Amino acid sequence: MTTSLERSSVEGEPHYRASVDGILRFEQLQPTLRTRLGGGGEGDGDGLSAGITVVGTARPRLSWRYASAEPGWRQRGVELELTRADGFRTGIHLAGDEQALVAWPFGPLTSRERVAVRMRACAEVAGEASDATGATAGHAHGGSKAVAVADSAWSAPAYVEAALLEPGDWSAQWITPATGGGIFDPAPVLGTRFDVSDGLVDARLRITALGIFEARINGALVSEDHFAPGWSSYDHRLRYQNYDVTALLQPGENDLEALLGNGWYRGRIASFSLHRGHPYGEKLALLAQLELTFADGRRETIGSDGGWSAGGSRVLANDFYDGQTTDLHLPVRPARDGAVTVVPSPGVELVAPVAPAVRETQTVPAVSTTLTASGRLLVDFGQNVVGWVRLRVRGEAGQRVSVRHAEVLENGELSLRPLRSAKVTDTYILAGTGDAGAAWDAAGGVAGVAGAAGAAGVASVAAELGELLEPNLVFHGFRYIDIDGLNAAEDPATELLSVEAVVLGSDLERTGWFETSSVELNQLHQNVVWGMRGNFLDVPTDCPQRDERLGWTGDIQVFAPTATSLFDVSGFLSSWLADLAADQLPDGTVPAVIPRVFLEEKPLAGWGDAAVIVPWALYEAYGDRAILERQYPSMTRWHDRVTADTTDNLWLGGDQLGDWLDPLAPPDAPAKAQADPDVVASAYYARSIDLLARVAAVLGRHDEAERYERLATGIRAAFNREFVSPEGIVRSDCQTVYALAIRWRLITDADVLALAGQRLRELVDERNFTVATGFLGTPVILDALLDAGQLDAAYAMVLGHEHPSWLYSVDLGATTVWERWDSLLPDGSVNPGEMTSFNHYAFGAVADWMHRVIGGLTPTSPGYRDVSIAPRLGGDLTSASISHLSPFGLIAADWCLNGGVFALALTVPVGVTAAVTLPSGEHHRVTHGEHVFTCDVP
Ligand code: BGC
Repeated sequence: MTTSLERSSVEGEPHYRASVDGILRFEQLQPTLRTRLGGGGEGDGDGLSAGITVVGTARPRLSWRYASAEPGWRQRGVELELTRADGFRTGIHLAGDEQALVAWPFGPLTSRERVAVRMRACAEVAGEASDATGATAGHAHGGSKAVAVADSAWSAPAYVEAALLEPGDWSAQWITPATGGGIFDPAPVLGTRFDVSDGLVDARLRITALGIFEARINGALVSEDHFAPGWSSYDHRLRYQNYDVTALLQPGENDLEALLGNGWYRGRIASFSLHRGHPYGEKLALLAQLELTFADGRRETIGSDGGWSAGGSRVLANDFYDGQTTDLHLPVRPARDGAVTVVPSPGVELVAPVAPAVRETQTVPAVSTTLTASGRLLVDFGQNVVGWVRLRVRGEAGQRVSVRHAEVLENGELSLRPLRSAKVTDTYILAGTGDAGAAWDAAGGVAGVAGAAGAAGVASVAAELGELLEPNLVFHGFRYIDIDGLNAAEDPATELLSVEAVVLGSDLERTGWFETSSVELNQLHQNVVWGMRGNFLDVPTDCPQRDERLGWTGDIQVFAPTATSLFDVSGFLSSWLADLAADQLPDGTVPAVIPRVFLEEKPLAGWGDAAVIVPWALYEAYGDRAILERQYPSMTRWHDRVTADTTDNLWLGGDQLGDWLDPLAPPDAPAKAQADPDVVASAYYARSIDLLARVAAVLGRHDEAERYERLATGIRAAFNREFVSPEGIVRSDCQTVYALAIRWRLITDADVLALAGQRLRELVDERNFTVATGFLGTPVILDALLDAGQLDAAYAMVLGHEHPSWLYSVDLGATTVWERWDSLLPDGSVNPGEMTSFNHYAFGAVADWMHRVIGGLTPTSPGYRDVSIAPRLGGDLTSASISHLSPFGLIAADWCLNGGVFALALTVPVGVTAAVTLPSGEHHRVTHGEHVFTCDVP
């Protein structure tokens, strides 16, 4: 008989200890307190103070993953240990196999409290049980049976710090420049000088703005974040950032200042004619609170107040749609010689972020620089991106250089028409002194480059390095730029020293990867990923380039399942849903875009349904029951609003967007789809009520679940009665209506359903496997074909090249997913319609199907606790690989087909059970580990 003690003593360490490595994470994190270290100027901020997760809740939930474990190992409980700052320790044992979003088991955190938490597992192995949670693995609990000690090693400690949890934690006041700072004035800078005494151990900057801010301490940027505090429903919720700025402060005098930009708060995006008709507010404002902690326990707070000062800046103009104008003549750090005015607090809830901020995530080099017929320098980055351009140029003082941005070319020049009224132009007035001048200026003109090298030194550095041109308060969507103001015709290289595209987006963790043997399909998938990166810029937007860039509910509703499979969007979408609930109208109507900007709102099928469908997608991906709980009132209010508009359980006659951008709709009337809007609206009504019934059941609201189920049954009956003939013909007889009716099981009679499936197949055949669906039909058409037993047709459609199809755009060189199936017409010209973006993620919802059907990975219980691995072979694909970083760890399935033999390599993380179905029909059930399966395929 082998006891745990013997194992332990024989092997020196408990046997299982080395193989299990707890990786502890806190929920929905603002990843860590971040700051630039080193105190230098821009660009030298390497090294981030990582490792402390800031949370805006007293009870952060906990998740952990195991890097690996012995076969048969199963968590049956965990020990969690919390250490407070004063060294006080407490431990708790939780029974069970939960690993994701586990409720905080300790007392609530208080504002600013920092604690360390570590964990270890207690487990059973292949049916043998152990209660051993202590370091001494010598007790064989549970009777005389041989027991293996399966407690893991302690995880590394994870640090969590509470942000400001009570409104009373704020002592700073809201301030705005006393003069200037208007929409046509230079972007204002507000700041203060203050002394720091010796013995500083910790400094936190809590900061937010009406507008967007860029904060500096002693001239150094406090973080790599852009456009903070981001866009929330400003009438109700405003985010604030928490930065660790300890390393930026020095004993003696210090300077803290923030540049304010219009962002989403003021300017055209907020006051677009169709929108609210007015900006959120006329004045930009700042709220900043610097909290210092000293070795002797002393705390000091430097809060924005009437004693702060204000000045202008080099940023003469900034607007998200139109671009930025920067005068490089003017100092990097202007004199703040004006006063500030204390303004009343906006009176909205201040919330700590639950998602990563917008950051630079990549740079893309130019692939070509040429001269256009109009004499501008044209730069192609080879990839449609979202962000801005960083250039280094050599020029004369006062020379104006401007950069325009576009996604495509027409006749060799930028195609600006699709951008509608957005001017997308960044303009610079050169200093002519190069960066040497800027460095001198940043250093206060005393000890900088010029101080050391003299004026001659400045001139020679200028000639050598040129000037750095880079905006900071705007973003653009582009693949091409043209540059005006350089002597391009002579020799561009003498003036344009370097150019690169800077990619910006919410800095989300990538969680999904997919590749196949088809180069075109891989390109399509990459296009989906790029589209998501560009449009997940603080809020989920329709497009990033024209005079729109809004949080369209319908677009994210169809894309949410794909989004959750590619990046960790748990916090990002949770925050957006909080805005959705906050912006919902008193009668339950969900605004068409969130944050709300339109004046008039009406219930829109497929758009307002985001209120139910997006939280459900998060629940499925992350197993987050709390998001359902929180959003439930919003869901039921939406449902009540829609129900009020229904007649005999059908949603008829609404003013609907319907199957928006159906390829057969006229280019100038995107809502004139083939699909009858009443069929689409009623189908969505059924879908949302069906999900609502499931949500109520998950939440244990059984009476309501039953009521919604009954209603869903009633809607299905009405749908069949009104829209479906006994021959299986669905009213308006087009791909979308069959797709919705089949995929969502709206047709209740099995024979009629089969006939409808056949009819869908006929329609698809008639159109030679091209797509004939818009925003609402596209995410379900391939699944509907599969459900109807028409896998070959689904494959023919996804691999088709004829217009309209996904690969049509790939053939025409797309590097992101287009808004229209033919944003570029076959002859390469730009579609004349108003809605012609080249970066819209909606049609990219197909990636979810690719992951589930080609890759074969589908979560079958919330949070990927159980998954199905069932690749469906088709087309001429000979291999595919999918991996997904689930809440439990990486799930990876890699299959290939070779000479009639199918082989599948599968990785399953600890905590996940996979049901495997091979193309031969063979089934297997496996838990964590590496597995290989093969079978013959006829
Ligand atoms: C947006 C769409 C949106 C649609 C609905 C467009 O302008 O770009 O993606 O869903 O309007 O009307």
